[in-house]
Amino acid sequence: NWSMETFIDDTVDELKRHVGDKRVLCALSGGVDSSVVAALIHRAIGDQLTCVFVDHGLLRKGEADSVMRTFSDHFQMNVVKVDAQERFLTKLKGVTDPEQKRKIIGNEFIRVFEEEQKKLGHHQFLGQGTLYTDIIESGTETAQTIKSHHNVGGLPEDMQMDLVEPVNTLFKDEVRKVGEELGLPREIVWRQPFPGPGLGIRVIGEVTEEKLVIVRESDAILRDEIAKAGLDREIWQYFTALPDFKSVGVMGDARTYAYTVGIRAVTSIDGMTADWARIPNEVLEKISNRIINEVDGVNRVVYDITSKPPATIEWE
Ligand code: XMP
Repeated sequence: NWSMETFIDDTVDELKRHVGDKRVLCALSGGVDSSVVAALIHRAIGDQLTCVFVDHGLLRKGEADSVMRTFSDHFQMNVVKVDAQERFLTKLKGVTDPEQKRKIIGNEFIRVFEEEQKKLGHHQFLGQGTLYTDIIESGTETAQTIKSHHNVGGLPEDMQMDLVEPVNTLFKDEVRKVGEELGLPREIVWRQPFPGPGLGIRVIGEVTEEKLVIVRESDAILRDEIAKAGLDREIWQYFTALPDFKSVGVMGDARTYAYTVGIRAVTSIDGMTADWARIPNEVLEKISNRIINEVDGVNRVVYDITSKPPATIEWE
């Protein structure tokens, strides 16, 4: 019988007991899961907590600045930003397999945290916003792996820190309730889910700077138009993905040969199942026109009309 108040109190007590006078690093993405974890740990141990926000170069447009601003505006927590764009992109060079990409990103995250741990002195624990759903989908001994979530199946075996995962029994809607109860700002509690591997799994195939720019710019247009249409609360997740192929088009009198952008938008309760969102045609038309006109290297826009199952929400 799950109750929010007892969950928060019990978790804070348990964290105090478990961590004692040791230090905790918390992996902060700016999303609701890791923010709730940071707030719970902060409530338990205060300044023994340091949050680390990693810019792995796979973030959305304007994301690093907006996360850092939100956190400095709302919390009295220690937050460190690490610029790690180059090392992630170097590791991903030439890699096309989705599971391999996920594992590389998960590993590199931990390496970055281990380096911060050394710089900041002794941190025994790594706090993570792992959800119950992440564990299910990453597979257990009995279940099959659907995708290795970067914070579960993607972790290195020789990792140096103990994990603290206080929301790993919760689903997303429960984490949001805990976030509201803890007084987190609405923009965090209701932020759409964004996967840890970020745009790395929305660029299909090899991740290159050129493709990242296309996904980032087209995604920004999509988010802008969804917000303008007032649909951002009813759609669970909406983003663009970039398939690894080009097709023929015509612009003016000239032939073009350029990328296709895929729009993905779904409604869901917990991300385990999802239905494709019925975005009004006029809104889709506007998004398509803007992407073609404003994003270089794109001559076609398609809309993904598959539910989960049989598809998944992300394309990789
Ligand atoms: P799929 O694509 O499996 O996604 O239908 C279900 C939900 O999980 C998110 N997702 C991830 N979140 N690390 C995360 O933190 C990951 O590695 C990861 N992979 C997928 C996805 O965005 C959707 O909300």
